[in-house]
Amino acid sequence: MLFRLTSDYAHEATIKSAASLGKNRWLLKTLRSLYSYKNPVLEQKIFGLTFQNPVGLAAGFDKNGTTIAFMESLGFGFIEIGSITANPSTGNPKPRSFRLPKDQSLINRLGLNNEGAQTISRRLKKVNPSVPIGINIAKTHDPSIEGEKAIADYKTSFDFIKDFADYITLNISCPNTREGKTFEDPATLDALLTELEIGKDASLPPILVKFSVDLTNDELLSLLQVCESHAVDGYVAVNTSSKRVNLTTSQKEIKRIGNGGLSGKAIASRSTEIIKQIHSFTKGEKTIIGVGGIFSSSDAIEKLKAGADLLQLYTGLVYNGPGVVKQINQGIASYLEENGLSHVYHIKNLKD
Ligand code: FNR
Repeated sequence: MLFRLTSDYAHEATIKSAASLGKNRWLLKTLRSLYSYKNPVLEQKIFGLTFQNPVGLAAGFDKNGTTIAFMESLGFGFIEIGSITANPSTGNPKPRSFRLPKDQSLINRLGLNNEGAQTISRRLKKVNPSVPIGINIAKTHDPSIEGEKAIADYKTSFDFIKDFADYITLNISCPNTREGKTFEDPATLDALLTELEIGKDASLPPILVKFSVDLTNDELLSLLQVCESHAVDGYVAVNTSSKRVNLTTSQKEIKRIGNGGLSGKAIASRSTEIIKQIHSFTKGEKTIIGVGGIFSSSDAIEKLKAGADLLQLYTGLVYNGPGVVKQINQGIASYLEENGLSHVYHIKNLKD
C-alpha cells in the first residue's frame, strides 16, 4: 500500500502512524509477539550494553525520536535516531526521496530535517526504551555555519543529547548539505574530536564516527588515523553515496531525480569493503556497525564476516517490510547452527 504513495508521503505517513500507534500498549505487545525473535546466540554485550540481536535501525528513519516504542516492537536490537542538529530544520523542498525499485535502492536529499537538539533531548528524557539507543548528530543544515562555528554547532547538539544516548554517532558524512561538503577532512575532523574532548572525558558515552561510502581507501585511512589518535570507540560504515554506480535504472530517470544520497543494494559491496578496511586497520579491536544494502540474512552474514559487530538497515525495511528484522535474525541463527558456531560473535572470525 505504501508503494502506491510517493516516497515522501509514505515516509511521513509511516512516521506519524508509528508515533501514534506506539502509545497503544496492547498493539505493541501484539507486534512484539509477531515480529520479535529472541535467541541467546544472537545476544551480545558491547560497550557494557546488552544488544539482544545485532540488527539495528539506521539513522534517518526516526529523525526526532518519536517512534522508538513502535520500532522496538518490530524486533530491532537497537535504534539510532537522528541525525539531530543544533538548530531545527525543515530540510530540502519536496520531492526529496525517490525509489529505484529495479535496483532495490533509494535516493534521498531530505537535508537533515529535524526538530533540533533541544526539543529532541526533552522528548528523550521521557522515553524508557528497552533496547540501546544511539543518537546521531550532524552539523545544522546552513551553509553560513562553517569553520569554528560548525564545530561549535556540533558541540551544542552533543551537550544537549549526551546524557540520553547509549552511544553517539558523529555523522561527518551527510551528502545533503547546501554547501555540498561533508566534514570528512582530516584536519577538520581532528578539530571536531578535540573540541568534543573525545578520548579525554571519561564520562562521555561511547563515540562512533560515521563515514561515507564514497571515501577512497587512502581517504579512509587518513580519517581512521585521526579517529584512532582520539581513541574513538567505533565506526558506522557507511552513509549514502553521491555517486551513481551499480545502477540499472535508466539514465533519464536518474537525471530526473537529481542530487541526493544513494542507499540500498547499489552501495552494498563498497560498504562491505570499507568494513573490511576498518576491521583490518583497527585489528578488530573497535566496534563496527555495518550498514549499506542489508536486505537478508546472507547480506547480514557478509557484513559480519567482513568484521561488523552490529548491523543496521533502512532501505531493506522500505523494500521488504517490517518482517525483515525477524527474517534476518532467524537466518543468522540458522547459519550458526548449520556451521556449528555457538554465537554470532564467531562469524567475525570466519574467512570466506
Ligand atoms: C538516511 N541515512 C542517514 N544517515 C545519517 O547518518 N543521518 C541521516 O539523517 C540519514 N538520513 C537518511 C534518510 C534516508 C531517507 C535514507 C534512505 C538514509 C543513511 C542511513 O542511515 C544508512 O547509512 C544508509 O541508508 C545505508 O543503509 P541502507 O539504507 O542501505 O540499509
